[in-house]
Amino acid sequence: MAMNTITIVNGKRNENSPTESSAEIPVLIDGSRHTAQPGERLVDLINRVGLKLSQVCYHHQLGPIQTCDTCLVEIGGQLVRACATTVTSGMSVTTASSKAHAARQEAFDRILVNHMLYCTVCDNNNGNCTVHNTTKLLAIEHQQIPFKKKPYAVDNTNPFYRYDPDQCILCGRCVEACQNLQVNETLSINWEDPHPRVQWDGGSTIGESSCVSCGHCITVCPCNALMEKSMLGKPDSSRASLRNRSTA
Ligand code: SF4
Ligand code: SF4
Ligand code: FES
Repeated sequence: MAMNTITIVNGKRNENSPTESSAEIPVLIDGSRHTAQPGERLVDLINRVGLKLSQVCYHHQLGPIQTCDTCLVEIGGQLVRACATTVTSGMSVTTASSKAHAARQEAFDRILVNHMLYCTVCDNNNGNCTVHNTTKLLAIEHQQIPFKKKPYAVDNTNPFYRYDPDQCILCGRCVEACQNLQVNETLSINWEDPHPRVQWDGGSTIGESSCVSCGHCITVCPCNALMEKSMLGKPDSSRASLRNRSTA
């Protein structure tokens, strides 16, 4: 049986190449049979068949960024990232084991060090907040690791949107959108910094940067770190129609 595995480290891409050419690829997920398409990512199959799996840094437009580990599942007793695993024939996947669930919870706890859950008063509490929905999915009742503030102010220098470093979970989705989809190459994260944050042109304010205000970064941000200014302070009823962040 061909199988893709990864080492669970804080590394980046380690995606295996698809090896199947057959049109129908049988897969077992939690004991149920499913049919995958050639080259299909495990996370996409899980989403397509309607199973629930946390996946904070994954976005179907961006591909696997692999910064969060909230998509860990078990294959052959090993924890693997569903976002970085290509389905192969006969693969048997366990999402529901206590080992996989605990690994996803632990990964999400590490994310929440960078994010304060003030959902009841949050401008992003619109039903499409990935961080909020993951909190519910993983049954997180309180933050195991206390929230740590970053020593930066909110950047309000762009007329259309603002960035709040304190709410930024450093998932890298915005960087990926800016660098590889928009090909504007304005955004980056300096991981050597003792307090990493998203940077515009390596440390400029947003207003003085090469940002063209395309808004792509905002649409893929899984929380309220990047927000359109037009959506701040809106009542609950108007938020969902103004913003429709993708959660997958
Ligand atoms: S961004 Fe989402 S998870 Fe964070 S406080 Fe707002 S609603 Fe809650
Ligand atoms: S601003 Fe949003 S998309 Fe960008 S790294 Fe922070 S949380 Fe992720
Ligand atoms: S590592 Fe797979 S969703 Fe983040």
